[in-house]
Amino acid sequence: PETITIQELANRMAERAVDVIRLLMKQGEMKKINDVIDADTAQLIAEEMGHTVRRVAESDVEEGLFDAADEEGAAVPRPPVVTIMGHVDHGKTSLLDAIRQTNVVSGEAGGITQHIGAYQVKTPAGSLVTFIDTPGHEAFTAMRQRGAKATDIVVLVVAADDGVMPQTAEAINHAKAAGVPIIVAINKIDKQGAKPERVRTELLQHELQVESLGGEILEVEVSATKKLNLDKLLELIALQAELLDLKANPDRPAEGIVIEAKLDKGRGPVATVLVQRGTLKGGDIVVAGSEWGRVRALIDDQGKAVSEAGPSLPVEILGFQGAPEAGDRLAVVENEARAREVTEYRQRQRRDLAAARSGRGGGGSIEQMM
Ligand code: GTP
Ligand code: MG
Repeated sequence: PETITIQELANRMAERAVDVIRLLMKQGEMKKINDVIDADTAQLIAEEMGHTVRRVAESDVEEGLFDAADEEGAAVPRPPVVTIMGHVDHGKTSLLDAIRQTNVVSGEAGGITQHIGAYQVKTPAGSLVTFIDTPGHEAFTAMRQRGAKATDIVVLVVAADDGVMPQTAEAINHAKAAGVPIIVAINKIDKQGAKPERVRTELLQHELQVESLGGEILEVEVSATKKLNLDKLLELIALQAELLDLKANPDRPAEGIVIEAKLDKGRGPVATVLVQRGTLKGGDIVVAGSEWGRVRALIDDQGKAVSEAGPSLPVEILGFQGAPEAGDRLAVVENEARAREVTEYRQRQRRDLAAARSGRGGGGSIEQMM
């Protein structure tokens, strides 16, 4: 249900909070400044005080930001988006680095100067794969809670010398809950004491049956440090992607998700975004969470400026007024007025929630309630 704090209600009417409290008191309701009241009560109070009330429902503001399904026939194949998960020190970063160094699209050796939270590589067969270098399981969960599905495939990294560990199990659960297929990469097979067979049987206990044990889960033994079987892993990803038949319509306003965002001293707010549908272009007006901006520049994972970005392409956006948050969904809107309407509404929501929370002396996170 919609609520508002006494303070915020007073602010919006440009009245004193004490007068609002007084009025409530007359009606037999004892409230403090940070207490929340429901929208109906707020409307009565506002009208009593001589204000006209225009109630803006979330659905009014958020309507049309994210369209329903793409039209039949308009969608074309798009690269899969892959997240690497697994237990601490099992080699996630090493694996990503190894894949990136050998396969970055049109990358020159040692030419990786910039950290970007997502990037694209080419498989041996020539198809593209987008990797998200996720900061961890929490980010994955947070995105899911906010209704954002950023990944198509999870590569589960399990160190052959260590086996299935607590965070391996967690990753399995996350992927299953999100309905995302898993590819198992048994890493560190170069190591003495590597026991890939043991990993396979341990995975059975988590209801993950790999192909060599008669199941359907794609698997590969790899070594990040020795660069063993990295092409095989990319092939499996391409195969899994074929099974998923991933498509998106590039000919529509862009929608996507913020992978990370920061305030850069020289460049201002910078958001790394994964475009999920449509094509993002310079000059587009975008909203993400409670921030908006006009796209001043788009920069790819090689640090090069590009004029547009289509489905599954990660790009940095320059031009936001403020930095959005990882997990925020991005949409292109018609004009600045619309962008302001949406973001001001969301900022207000956040303030109300924060006030309600501090009034109650803490509690659940804002993110979770969004
Ligand atoms: P966190 O980000 O801390 O969860 O770790 P991670 O999963 O990203 O592991 P990371 O890539 O940092 O690797 C951890 C350690 O394992 C490092 O010392 C790597 O050099 C080593 N390592 C990673 N892959 C391999 C491998 O294939 N073989 C061997 N022998 N060592 C590896
Ligand atoms: Mg790491």
